[in-house]
Amino acid sequence: MKAPDRFSGFPSPNPHPEPSIRVSEILSALSYALDLTEGQPMGHSVRACIIGMRLAQQIGLPAPERADLYYSLLLKDAGCSSNSSRLFHIVTADEIKAKRDVKLTDWTRVGWESLQYALTHVATDLPFLQRIRRLFQVAATQQQDSCALVKIRCERGADIAKQLGFSDRVVSGIYSLDEHWNGLGYPDGLRKDEIPLFSRIANLSQTLDVFHTDRGPSAAIDVASRRSGRWFDPQLVNAAVCMSKNGTLWTGLDSPDLLHKVIALEPEQRRIPANEDAIDNICQAFAEVIDAKSPFTYRHSSGVAEAAMEIAHWFGMKPRDVKLLRRAALLHDLGKLSVPNAILEKPGKLTDEEWTIVRKHPYYTLEILKRIPGFEALGEEAAAHHEKLDGSGYWRGLVAEQLSTFARILAVADIFDALRAKRPYRDSLPLEKTFSILREESPHALDLPCIEALIAAKTSSEPCALEAPKNSVAATTQKRSSIS
Ligand SMILES: [Fe+2]
Ligand SMILES: [Fe+2]
Repeated sequence: MKAPDRFSGFPSPNPHPEPSIRVSEILSALSYALDLTEGQPMGHSVRACIIGMRLAQQIGLPAPERADLYYSLLLKDAGCSSNSSRLFHIVTADEIKAKRDVKLTDWTRVGWESLQYALTHVATDLPFLQRIRRLFQVAATQQQDSCALVKIRCERGADIAKQLGFSDRVVSGIYSLDEHWNGLGYPDGLRKDEIPLFSRIANLSQTLDVFHTDRGPSAAIDVASRRSGRWFDPQLVNAAVCMSKNGTLWTGLDSPDLLHKVIALEPEQRRIPANEDAIDNICQAFAEVIDAKSPFTYRHSSGVAEAAMEIAHWFGMKPRDVKLLRRAALLHDLGKLSVPNAILEKPGKLTDEEWTIVRKHPYYTLEILKRIPGFEALGEEAAAHHEKLDGSGYWRGLVAEQLSTFARILAVADIFDALRAKRPYRDSLPLEKTFSILREESPHALDLPCIEALIAAKTSSEPCALEAPKNSVAATTQKRSSIS
């Protein structure tokens, strides 16, 4: 069987050079995906890391500790997708906006600020009476809900850091991120020095970046000072005030070269090279971050990787290519972290505006992956997973000649896994029905050899009709199942 030729636009002959990179280069780029989930401007985690590392230097934290702090800061939001669905069901509205604005709100004080937050973010699309009822329900359970949301998030974030092999210091720094100096934070109500130093630095750094980016340096220092001794360690706030005065806290935070700046901050003696296993581990961990966003996409990235590898094995691809394809499959939906759960979990038809948001998710996949040295081509292929041979796909409307073998395999594997999964608007489809839908979409939209290879692999039979697909311009109907 002959697999379709690669897209001639990729460098030849090897579009995927062996990477020679550091873990920090991969994680700092992938942290942009965490920013999307938190509703923050991309680069937030990296900027918070830079601020935190500067504070650590100012207070004289020794280099080995700074090396661990570095990863606590970069991965502080690793658990952020795990509470998205629950938050969406609490606010019954766009949870990404709710996450974005809660970082600009002092929700610990009952008053106009927290009331205004609730009015702006809870049940915004519900009729008036239902909305009022929902607001009262949210107010009644606010404390338990906040604690539960933080707990889910910090446990998951800590697990991811553990899974990636980081030290207990890194893990506990992430776990206790939302503790407050006065003991009124979550999940354990730790006070003062009971809170790990890394968490205290990360909490202050993230707030400084959020206010600095949104409202400028004076607002950032003002909020840190007002929350000093309540949310934040006063000694760290003093360090921030001092550095802000002498101009060293904010330098270069608006630089287009942000990634190089953060990578240079990793203490030299503890730089971790990314070997093949480390890269695979990181891809797997981020696939879990993506899949945790909604119960309806639970295991989707892993499922796509599994199906893609089955096709690749059937094609007799080289082990190196199978490995790369698996990485692309695991990360293909990184950009979906930008889609609110109100859309991902909507049982009905999407509006045009909602579709516009959905159709942009592969663009974000590319925007993130292209920031990792050596992942540029893989990013292009991962970001083409909704493209169709006849140009009817999204987000760029590429056509057959522009779609590589990887992209064609990913498109088939993605739809296969989406159809096999339960979705808010339908149950999972049986295998036979799934195969028949895939076949209906070929050869005009989906690659027939990829489909037949998958069917053969799933049914352990000999593949049939495996000629390269004939291109056609027949339009395909945009099905609701395309959020995959
Ligand atoms: Fe997708
Ligand atoms: Fe997908």
